[in-house]
This record gives sequence, structure tokens and C-alpha cells, in this order.
Amino acid sequence: MKAIIPKNIEEYCLHHSSARDKLLHELERYTNKHCDYPQMLIGPFEGALLAMLVRLTGARRILEIGCFTGYSALCMAEALPKSGRLTTCEIDPKRATIARSFFKRNRHGRKINLLLGPALESITQLPRATKFDFVFIDADKENYVNYYEAVLPRLRPGGLIVADNVLWSGHVLAPKNKTDRAVVKFNKHVHLDPRVECVMLPVRDGVSLIRKR
Ligand SMILES: C[S@@+](CC[C@H](N)C(=O)[O-])C[C@H]1O[C@@H](n2cnc3c(N)ncnc32)[C@H](O)[C@@H]1O
Repeated sequence: MKAIIPKNIEEYCLHHSSARDKLLHELERYTNKHCDYPQMLIGPFEGALLAMLVRLTGARRILEIGCFTGYSALCMAEALPKSGRLTTCEIDPKRATIARSFFKRNRHGRKINLLLGPALESITQLPRATKFDFVFIDADKENYVNYYEAVLPRLRPGGLIVADNVLWSGHVLAPKNKTDRAVVKFNKHVHLDPRVECVMLPVRDGVSLIRKR
């Protein structure tokens, strides 16, 4: 992932944002040491943003698509009230096992339910009445439009979808491959959708905040 914001500026922003839990540092170190593609983890800056958004929106029911080793799920769970719940989807059993082991070690981890398998199937299998206040989309880019369409009917009016990697290292400006084009397609899809309002932020790899009208 190519940095969009100069590294020293991002570090300055991070330094002036509230500190995260110690276990999150440990999870980041563990992921860097033991997992492929550790850069997929959102990290402390975007983690702080997600936690702030969860608190500001007063979300109680969160859906995450793309758990990896559980970093973003823990950031959001920490910001939920005691009775809040977070459902997270992950296709890779090894990553899911790591995530669950860290959820067990954090008092907010009990708010999290990890669904193992392809996210689209997991979402379809949720009871019809299950609704969310907040959705974080951070999995395979080729399915972003599918995830968006699957979750929008389950999002309450005024609810928020946060989509990660919407700038895709800047490749959205000159898409070359299938994944670049999938991100461009998603951004256009959201931009043209009258059911929502959206603001795209140049945070880390690009984050879109999409509010259902
Ligand atoms: C970018 S990582 C998520 C990072 C995580 N949100 C964090 O910040 O710690 C994307 C994750 O989505 C998972 N994934 C990819 N395709 C998926 C699918 N079809 N269903 C569920 N999970 C999927 C990958 O295995 C990977 O762990």
C-alpha cells in the first residue's frame, strides 16, 4: 500500500490522537511477525477514527466485513456501550483463530461474534430482522458493490457505512487491473446512489463515510 499522506504528517496526527489499548499494540506486533500481508491491518490512526465514529454515531449494532486478525473489530468494540454487539466476517480460518484468541483477552471482546466463511453467505444467513447502525467494509475489493447492496437494506436510516481503501494507493486515478477497476466501480456506484450521502476522506488508503438517508 502506497502512503497517500506523507508519513511524518500521519505520525504527527497519530501522536495528537488518543492512545489505543496496549493489547492492540501487541496484536499489531503479532500480526507483523506471524501473518502474511500485515499491512492490511488498519493501524492505530484509522482505528482511532473508527472508534470515534462509533462513539459519535451512538452505534449499538455493528457489522464488519473483513476481520483479519481482529484489530479493527477490537477498536470498534471498545467504543460500543456494554450492551453493544459487533458481528465480524472472515473467510480465513487461521486469521479467525488469531482474532478469537485476542478477543478472549480483551474485556470488550465478548461483544464480538466472528462468522467464519464468505461474508456474502454469512450476511445472507443472518436473520431477516437483524439490522445494523454501523457497517465497516474492509474485505475483497471485487465484492465491495455486492457487500454494499447486501448491507444497505439492513442499515437503519441515518446509519453509517465506512468503506476502507477507496483510494487504493491512488490507483483509482488510473485503474489498470481488475481490483483497481472494482474500487473505481464501487466509488461511482456510491456517488450515484440517491439513497445515501457520502464523504470520501484521504485518510490512510482512503475512507468513505456513507450515511443512509
Ligand atoms: C484488509 S483485511 C481486513 C483488515 C481488518 N479490518 C483490520 O483492520 O484488522 C481483509 C480481510 O478480508 C478477508 N476476506 C477476503 N475475502 C473475504 C470474503 N469473501 N469473505 C470474508 N472475508 C474475506 C481476508 O481474509 C482478510 O483477512
